[in-house]
Amino acid sequence: MRGVVAFSLLSVALRVAADLTESNLHRYTEVLALQSSFNPIKEAYWTGYPHHRRTPFAVSPDGKSAYIAYLDASETDIHVQQVDVSTFEATGTAVTVSGGKEAGGLVAHNDGFALLTNEAMPSGTTNAPPSNTPVPVLYRYTDGKQTWKTWLGGPGVHEADGLSASPDLNGDLAYSEQAGLYGAYFVITDYSGDAAGHFGDSIQYVADNGTLVTIAGASSSWGCSHNTGIAFESADEPPFASICAEDQGAIWLNTKTLGMSSDGVKISNENTTNGGSGEPMGGMSGSYSALARFAESSRYIFAWVSRGAMDLTENTWMGSGYTHALNRTNNRNVAISLFSDKYTMVGKQATSEVGVEDGDSQITWLTEGANDCSNAHAATFGNNSGLVTWEEISDPICDFVAMGCRGQFAGTFFQQVDSDGKKVGTPLKSTDTFVAGDMVTMADGRICWPYVSMDWDLSQAVYASTSSTTKMSFACIGLNGTSTTRMADSCMAAA
Ligand SMILES: *[C@@H]1O[C@H](CO)[C@@H](O)[C@H](O)[C@H]1NC(C)=O
Ligand SMILES: *[C@@H]1O[C@H](CO)[C@@H](O)[C@H](O)[C@H]1NC(C)=O
Ligand SMILES: *[C@@H]1O[C@H](CO)[C@@H](O)[C@H](O)[C@H]1NC(C)=O
Ligand SMILES: *[C@@H]1O[C@H](CO)[C@@H](O)[C@H](O)[C@H]1NC(C)=O
Ligand SMILES: *[C@@H]1O[C@H](CO)[C@@H](O)[C@H](O)[C@H]1NC(C)=O
Repeated sequence: MRGVVAFSLLSVALRVAADLTESNLHRYTEVLALQSSFNPIKEAYWTGYPHHRRTPFAVSPDGKSAYIAYLDASETDIHVQQVDVSTFEATGTAVTVSGGKEAGGLVAHNDGFALLTNEAMPSGTTNAPPSNTPVPVLYRYTDGKQTWKTWLGGPGVHEADGLSASPDLNGDLAYSEQAGLYGAYFVITDYSGDAAGHFGDSIQYVADNGTLVTIAGASSSWGCSHNTGIAFESADEPPFASICAEDQGAIWLNTKTLGMSSDGVKISNENTTNGGSGEPMGGMSGSYSALARFAESSRYIFAWVSRGAMDLTENTWMGSGYTHALNRTNNRNVAISLFSDKYTMVGKQATSEVGVEDGDSQITWLTEGANDCSNAHAATFGNNSGLVTWEEISDPICDFVAMGCRGQFAGTFFQQVDSDGKKVGTPLKSTDTFVAGDMVTMADGRICWPYVSMDWDLSQAVYASTSSTTKMSFACIGLNGTSTTRMADSCMAAA
């Protein structure tokens, strides 16, 4: 079919129905020279298995400026580099945000960027967390200069509910042009108040002018217990769309509840052990590009990995409405769910009926094999088409029930789906392209993301990896004009 240029809707329909092939995947290998070294490997919680260290990536509303953020290899300081939107080569010198410990989220503006990171508070700060534990913070830079800096935890932030710090953010940053608001969703540990010593999560909003704003029904000082994965995406007004995986047995669409109350929307039952739930949104260094909005529509798509759920029992500690489940499989498969708006799941919720064998019948699976799947992400081409990606390990060894697995890397997969989440063709497999930073819809309709070109060894733990690079790669997948954002010029683009 390729090469046939027919100016009819039928040809567009045929093209959409086709498999993604190598010709849809464009690599920009090692095009970005980094001014500082970057360690591309982050060891996972509990297992020490290798994860890609996230490099947040964002494109401005006018499509003309793109930025990538990365943690310095010394593990302190975040560098934000502007890149050319066509070549992905560096433009200008990087901005260094000193003291940052994690590149936790990035928003690009036409005149600069905003960065979510965590850092120790200045010494002598009254009521700062003990032992220099980092505190979440949002920076805004305009034309290369810092415009404001706003703490999202620490002294003075929701003081009555207890003070929070973030040793690991594992969260995300989103911005709504319509609302003029940044939203940040991240992991916290409290160091005062009722939850002192416990881990949970928080959602905070910041206005365009840098003021932290507390919005009833949107801001949250404490949400999901031991958050084991976040998915967060912008909306036209607060609350933004949010999902959490918790350590009690479920994944919740919690846009309305902001936490894990049982009147929330239960997306999935997951087996939880030792505070893990199978790294559904990527575990350490994950929690980005898991939830994506279909362009300007109200609809969203969510991708995660799961071992399935069976034999539901009551979670007696949490009480009625909460369940425990056994994992159905040894390995993890890729699941998706669709939302008609930020509060509403399409189809059935996950059951909370105690005694039920089938605790995962609501799930739409994209894979059903014995390979272990991880690092799932979703992005959208426009109103009517999405892209889901994941990595696979063949013959996986899964030593820990609610964590990751190890074994031979078997490729990164890219599956196109339609607006109902139905598979379009078969997935494209790549063994030299990975997804290691935000998947962004570019102005030309393609979905692009950063990664480090390297041998990807998933066979063993990598405690304290000292790997380092000064070269960043990018890859893009395009549908050659079939992207529904550009339906009008699709025929020309296809030609
Ligand atoms: C997409 O366009 C590129 C050139 O721009 C071409 O090489 C490739 O074959 C096209 N792919 C498809 C699926 O039409
Ligand atoms: C900043 O924005 C917030 C929210 O819109 C507003 O309440 C506040 O007055 C503004 N502050 C300044 C100094 O303009
Ligand atoms: C996407 O859908 C929304 C409504 O759901 C509509 O307002 C918008 O125009 C659509 N965009 C495109 C490019 O079709
Ligand atoms: C998780 O599954 C394992 C068996 O695979 C089981 O022993 C454990 O009790 C389950 N956890 C919960 C919280 O039900
Ligand atoms: C549950 O997962 C663990 C670890 O991956 C595995 O050992 C066990 O066999 C799985 N249970 C089932 C029923 O597959």
